[in-house]
Amino acid sequence: MPRVQPDQLSICADRLRAGELVAFPTETVYGLGADATQAEAIAKVYAVKNRPSFNPLICHVADFAAAEKLGVFSDNAQKLAEHFWPGPLTLVVPKRTACPVAPLASAGLESIALRVPAHPVAQALLRAVDRPIVAPSANPSGTLSPSRAEHVVNYFPDLLVLDGGDCSVGVESSIVGCLTEQTYWLRAGGLAKSQIEAHLGSPLHDAPTEKEDQARLAPGRLARHYAPQHQLLLTNDPATPKDAVIVFGTQTDPADRSFNLSPSGSDVEAASRLYALLHEIDQLLPEGGRILVRRFPPQTGGLHEAVLDRLNRAAAPNTAETS
Ligand code: TXA
Ligand code: MG
Repeated sequence: MPRVQPDQLSICADRLRAGELVAFPTETVYGLGADATQAEAIAKVYAVKNRPSFNPLICHVADFAAAEKLGVFSDNAQKLAEHFWPGPLTLVVPKRTACPVAPLASAGLESIALRVPAHPVAQALLRAVDRPIVAPSANPSGTLSPSRAEHVVNYFPDLLVLDGGDCSVGVESSIVGCLTEQTYWLRAGGLAKSQIEAHLGSPLHDAPTEKEDQARLAPGRLARHYAPQHQLLLTNDPATPKDAVIVFGTQTDPADRSFNLSPSGSDVEAASRLYALLHEIDQLLPEGGRILVRRFPPQTGGLHEAVLDRLNRAAAPNTAETS
C-alpha cells in the first residue's frame, strides 16, 4: 500500500521515527520526508533522489517555538517567521550548537534551512512525529517537482506516500537567508518578494554571485532544475505536429496540443498548475516532441518571478549540473 490517506497518519509517523522515508503533502509541493535527527535516514533521501550531497535539505517543524530550538533568529528572521509562518517561506539561519539535526542535513554548512508548512496534513504529521523532518521535493534530482500524490507514486512506486490532495500553492517555498546583518533573497517561490520586503520595510539583497559566498549561502542554485523529460523552450516559434504549446491568459495558439497555464491570467493560478500541467504534457507527448512555452507577459503579480524562474531552469541546457 504505497499510497495512504490521512487516517493512516500515525503509521506514517511511526515509519519516520523508525528512520524510514515517507512522502507527505505540503501546500507548496510534496516532500520526501526523513527524521532529521538520524543521519542514516537523511542519507537515504540523498540516495533515493540521487541528489548531490553538497546540496543541503530544508528541516520542517510544526511552529516557530520548535524552529527556535534548532536555529538562531536575527530580528529580521523572527519578524518574517512570526508573520509568514506557517506558510511557503523557508528561512536559512545559523544553526544552534545544541541543534539535534544531523550535520548531513546541512551538507556540512553551519547554517540550517527551516520551514513551517501550513498544509493541515503536514502540520498533523509534524506534531505526531515530534521531531524535525528533512524534506526535499519528492522527485528524482533535476526532474519536475510533484504537486499531487500520484506524481510521487509514479516516480517512486515503493515509497509510502501520505495523500493530502493537490498542493494549493504549487511551487516550492521562497527562501530567505538571514545569516548576517544582511537579509538575502535566495530562491523565488510561493511567497512574493514584494510581500516580504513590505513586511521588513527594506529591500532584500540579491543572492551573492561570488563562488565562495554562493557555496555558503545558496548552494542549491544550479542552472538546470525542475525539468520535464521532453525538451522545454521559451519561444514563439511555430509548433511541429509532435510539440505541445503552453499559453497564458488571453494568448491562443493554433497548435493541436495547446494548453493554457492560467486561463484567468493570474500568477497564483499559474504557479498552482505549473507542475501538474508539465507532468501531464510529459506523459502525452510522443518521442521527440517539445514543450514550447509562449512568451510570458511580464506584468503579472508577485508569484510571476517564481513561475518564470522554474520555466527558465526547466529550459536550461541538459549539460548543466542538476539538483
Ligand atoms: O517548498 C519547499 O521548500 C519544498 C517542500 C517539500 O517543503 N522543499 C524543497 O526542498 O523545495 P528542496 O530540497 O527541493 O530545496 C531546498 C533548497 C535547496 O535549493 C537548498 O540548496 C536550499 O534549500 N538550502 C537548504 N539548506 C540550506 C542552507 N543551510 N543554506 C542555504 N540554502 C539551503
Ligand atoms: Mg527540489
